Amino acid sequence: MSVIKKLALAAGIGALLSSAAWAQGLEGKVVGFSQIGSESGWRAAETSVTKQQAEARGVDLKFADAQQKQENQIKAIRGFIAQGVDAILVAPVVATGWDEVLTEAKEANIPVILLDRGVEAPEDLYLTSVASDQVKEGRVAGEWLVGTVGDKTCNVVELQGTVGSSPAINRKQGFEEGIAGHANITIVRSQTGDFTRSKGKEVMEGFLKAEDGGKNICAVYAHNDDMAVGAIQAIKDAGLKPGSDILVVSIDAVPDIFSAMVAGEANATVELTPNMAGPAFDALDAYLNAGTVPPKFIITESKLYTPADNPQAEYDNRKGLGY
Ligand code: AHR
Repeated sequence: MSVIKKLALAAGIGALLSSAAWAQGLEGKVVGFSQIGSESGWRAAETSVTKQQAEARGVDLKFADAQQKQENQIKAIRGFIAQGVDAILVAPVVATGWDEVLTEAKEANIPVILLDRGVEAPEDLYLTSVASDQVKEGRVAGEWLVGTVGDKTCNVVELQGTVGSSPAINRKQGFEEGIAGHANITIVRSQTGDFTRSKGKEVMEGFLKAEDGGKNICAVYAHNDDMAVGAIQAIKDAGLKPGSDILVVSIDAVPDIFSAMVAGEANATVELTPNMAGPAFDALDAYLNAGTVPPKFIITESKLYTPADNPQAEYDNRKGLGY
């Protein structure tokens, strides 16, 4: 028994120590990370935090940027398998089409951990999935709108994330659940902005043109903050005031949306932590060193922020995180 363990038991606090505290750590382990790309500020922060987490634990992280293409992710995962890595992290760009490559990893006895997005594949093909409850994120956004507009008629335009991705599917469903039973709130237009700022702006310009220069639009719901920031620019270019003429609600809680809140141009965001790697490495540590099988889904928090939550302080808290 280690000295630390003996001391802890002697002090009667053994039960308070988590399994992670007992584990030997991941020093020297080789972990492949197939990242989607760099479509958003949130994605950039997730990449930075993952690299920081790996470095702090002595993990040799092999990073592969898939530039938004599933075929590149599959190629990268096959490369990691060929190298004989100890584990693979993957943020899957879309939800389907993973069975074959995940089976190959399983056959090679390499645990795979999904980060921030889900897949439609048998659960035994991955060790765990660290992600938010994306349906809840959409529901929280929808419920915020219900509480904000009350009985007023409200036409909503929706900027969806990448087609076929789990957050686009689930955040749409969640928002519809959030506004269900409120006939005064209607989604009048919905199109993908691919989670990018430029596409969010371009699609919003089309929505504004199609809806009498924006006069028929009460709110924009964007599946991420970057698209909301693009939409805010389009609304301003159209001579309207985002945040008051058109309400803006989105997901991620990146620094730029808090700047927009400070300027009165954004109304609500639902936080998605960029630290998916921390819980993933903890689970991997316990699994590799103690054989502890983690829960299949490790769910991160989804907190709502509005201008009442000191957006300047929230901006300051986040700006060093690599967004
Ligand atoms: O999968 C998480 C989503 O992907 C984030 O909300 C978005 O910004 C990113 O591109």
